[in-house]
Amino acid sequence: MTVLVTGATGTVGSAVVTELNPTELPVRAGVRDPTATSLSVETVTFDYTKPETWGDALDGVEAVFLMFPPGVTPGRVTDFADAAVRTGVERLVFLSVLGADKLPVLPHRRIERHLERLDAETAALRAAYFMQNLSGIHSPEIRERGELFVPAGEGRLGFVDARDVGVVAARLLTGERRLDRPAVTLTGPTALNFEEAATVFSAELDREITCPNPSRRAVARRMRDRGLSAGFILFMLAEYQATRFGLTARITDAVAALLGREPRTLAQFVADYRDQFRP
Ligand SMILES: NC(=O)c1ccc[n+]([C@@H]2O[C@H](COP(=O)([O-])OP(=O)(O)OC[C@H]3O[C@@H](n4cnc5c(N)ncnc54)[C@H](OP(=O)(O)O)[C@@H]3O)[C@@H](O)[C@H]2O)c1
Repeated sequence: MTVLVTGATGTVGSAVVTELNPTELPVRAGVRDPTATSLSVETVTFDYTKPETWGDALDGVEAVFLMFPPGVTPGRVTDFADAAVRTGVERLVFLSVLGADKLPVLPHRRIERHLERLDAETAALRAAYFMQNLSGIHSPEIRERGELFVPAGEGRLGFVDARDVGVVAARLLTGERRLDRPAVTLTGPTALNFEEAATVFSAELDREITCPNPSRRAVARRMRDRGLSAGFILFMLAEYQATRFGLTARITDAVAALLGREPRTLAQFVADYRDQFRP
């Protein structure tokens, strides 16, 4: 069987590719521009918005890792899922988002509902806030100013390491693990607010990292100065507003139950990504 990983250059997709062992089973990475990547597995052109790329990507595939990329409509993802099942795909694992069950308007929930009706084994992974947001979008402030500059107030998040989400996805794609329900919520071990997260950073990096608890306006201004798009800034503010309202504090034991080990802690993450936080 071949496993197709979409979003293979992304935060979770790259972890899925790393975790799957191409010597045990063929792994195919679907990316928009294969010439722009150097993955260690077979790489094909794949774009959710270009159905003409789907046929080759799905050739001989038994399991697919699905995700919902920014800028793509959910209908493209569900159309692709239909095409996958038509060509014989038996297992689909979808990267969803924490709270999709509570917010039916979320596009992720629309995709989940569609998958539940397919004639295939499907699993939606409702992932909490990725620790990798801190080594990604928020790393310039940590590196240059020693700040976790997010408008989340006292709100808590179940910070999960995207690598753990990738391992869970890989185990489900190979059939090594199965869910007894259509979706599972994946979180890290503890719900932390950003003040507590800053304390973890300070201890691991051995320099003071603060959480100034900035206003939404201050964060928007800083992001705009960094050249981020208005759409992205609005999306981010909405996400952190959910945290302020206490909607992201949930913790589950699903990672431990599925992997037989505890999820990575924020301290482990900071230690592993230390170089990305150096001033
Ligand atoms: N950030 C979080 O804390 C968080 C938490 C839970 C869930 N999520 C969800 O996770 C998803 C994002 O996953 P991620 O963070 O792993 O990805 P990511 O790091 O944001 O990377 C985006 C990926 O999407 C691919 N992509 C973009 N447009 C595409 C298209 N038209 N067709 C095919 N692939 C396309 C990109 O591939 P190429 O450019 O290489 O083609 C890239 O691999 C979103 O649905 C988000 O809501 C995020």
